[in-house]
Amino acid sequence: MALVTALRRLAHVRICEYTRKTAAVTFGARHTSLKSFTTSTQPLRSDNKVTVHFINRDGEKITVKGSPGDSLLDIVINEDLDFDGFGACEGTLACSTCHLIFDEDVYKNLGPVTDEEMDMLDLAYGLTDTSRLGCQICLTKSLEGMVARVPESVADIRQSKDGSS
Ligand code: FES
Repeated sequence: MALVTALRRLAHVRICEYTRKTAAVTFGARHTSLKSFTTSTQPLRSDNKVTVHFINRDGEKITVKGSPGDSLLDIVINEDLDFDGFGACEGTLACSTCHLIFDEDVYKNLGPVTDEEMDMLDLAYGLTDTSRLGCQICLTKSLEGMVARVPESVADIRQSKDGSS
């Protein structure tokens, strides 16, 4: 089981790295002429960020930015967002605490769902037709301005198994 989890994690990291590199190459190609007129790359980096709006359990809207290739779990961690219990397994597909709900148009743009993610999603509270696990969603520029809703309750299958919750 630990080996399977490690392999899933490795595959996810590689997919995110590939997405990040592809986005960087695409961005660089589009802005080659712009680079020749600037002495600093800092503005280009900030332009390359993707804006994400989280709706917290209490309805609060939190707007943050992440880099293409970051997962939504990476953003929650990097921005120190206080979503109670979120990301308990650190993206190893061993819980469903990173459950997020999306608008249908965003959901269609999130990429394919793996069988392993589906298995974990089945254990999430408040599952909807547009639910995904945040640790499996990698940012792309096409997701600019996306809204991700944190469900009202959270289920951590790891705690349920040992009876501690
Ligand atoms: S953080 Fe556990 S499945 Fe996403």
